[in-house]
Amino acid sequence: MKFFVDTADIKQIEDLIPTGFVDGVTTNPSLIAKQGKDLSDTIKSICSIVSGPVSAEVAATDHPTMMEEGKYLASLAKNVAVKVPLTVEGLKTCKKLREQQIMVNVTLCFSAAQALLAAKAGASFISPFVGRLDDIGEKGISLIEDIVIIYENYGFETEVLAASIRTTQHVIDAALIGAHVATVPPKVIYELYNHELTDKGLKAFLDDWAKTGQSILSK
Ligand code: G3P
Repeated sequence: MKFFVDTADIKQIEDLIPTGFVDGVTTNPSLIAKQGKDLSDTIKSICSIVSGPVSAEVAATDHPTMMEEGKYLASLAKNVAVKVPLTVEGLKTCKKLREQQIMVNVTLCFSAAQALLAAKAGASFISPFVGRLDDIGEKGISLIEDIVIIYENYGFETEVLAASIRTTQHVIDAALIGAHVATVPPKVIYELYNHELTDKGLKAFLDDWAKTGQSILSK
């Protein structure tokens, strides 16, 4: 499974890079607004330290302007994936941008029907929002399962990018299902490391090691 980091915070991305778990980055207008910095500068900065796909979302809602914005965003760096919403205009734009070999991440997906359309439009990635479906009492992870089945049925090359990930269980469930990617907030990435038995075991090892009076690096 590929891990994309779901943030526009450069410092958080820089801090995570040494882990080797930054296969890409996803941003959206809300994540950009949260940073309070220029969109283009932010995307160029992220692309200068991350070689994998970096999603940058259009703000227009009509196809012609989405095309202009998408081509501009793609011009910022070779690894930009243009994010478009799952609307009629968004999928028209997806189709056209893909014809120009521009990576497209179709976002705000909440149904298998929408995901089927995105794959037929040639999307590079589909972003089903797991957490937001949970928020309205649905089982968001089931959507990931349905999409993986549908895409496998027809050999679609669109990668399933589990998004709106809120918990470590979301990550594990997406991996069990076979999602290609999970875009994970930094907080959840760090939570993936944690287990109480690891902490307890490490403390016991170090307490016992201290009793030996030895130091590995002492000559
Ligand atoms: O990539 C989409 C993600 O940022 C949305 O997450 O928690 O706002 O639903 P959330």
